[in-house]
Amino acid sequence: MELGGEKALWLLSPRITVLVTAISKKGQVNAAPYSFVGPLSIVPPMCYVSSGKGKDTEAFTRETKEFVLNLVSVDFAQAAIACEARLPRGESELEKFGLHEKKSKFVKAPSVKEAHATVECKLTEVIKPKGSDHVLLIGKILGGTCEFERDGGKPDLDRLELVMHVAGAHFRKAGERITLERNK
Ligand SMILES: Cc1cc2nc3c(=O)[nH]c(=O)nc-3n(C[C@H](O)[C@H](O)[C@H](O)COP(=O)(O)O)c2cc1C
Repeated sequence: MELGGEKALWLLSPRITVLVTAISKKGQVNAAPYSFVGPLSIVPPMCYVSSGKGKDTEAFTRETKEFVLNLVSVDFAQAAIACEARLPRGESELEKFGLHEKKSKFVKAPSVKEAHATVECKLTEVIKPKGSDHVLLIGKILGGTCEFERDGGKPDLDRLELVMHVAGAHFRKAGERITLERNK
């Protein structure tokens, strides 16, 4: 089967789904689901969120230079996805869809109480890749939280039951753990 570019994007999946929370200078909180998200550096730990044009996530993040990635688990996934709705600024997606704010540890932007794992970031740069319809919000990861731990200090992904995004309304649950030998 041959795939056009847009369909071939499906192959770059499944990806974690996160609910990105950000706060404006006025203290308004925004929450929206994202899946074009990933790590990009280890030392220092950094990540990116790829955001389409004109979204509040980008605007709020530019204002206060902070954002939180709240990893979406099965138990609150439907509410998290509903936060895609574009509400007027100042109306809280979290409140509207039955979710709650929780104080973050490193940043003023709140975390989501229902999220079992969070990653708190400081915006370091916004990059506009040539020809792209998205911008990359680059974040330095200041720290995170995870309610479930295995083998002394590792996040227990089995218990997190992460919701993975494929495309559109297609999702998967994160799969089983397998062990492979590495060459280093
Ligand atoms: C599962 C899922 C993943 C999404 N991933 C992205 C993404 O990676 N980048 C993006 O720009 N929009 C993404 N969206 C769409 C945004 O959530 C949507 O445009 C939202 O209204 C943006 O809200 P904001 O303007 O408050 O930031 C996704 C939507 C869903 C449901």
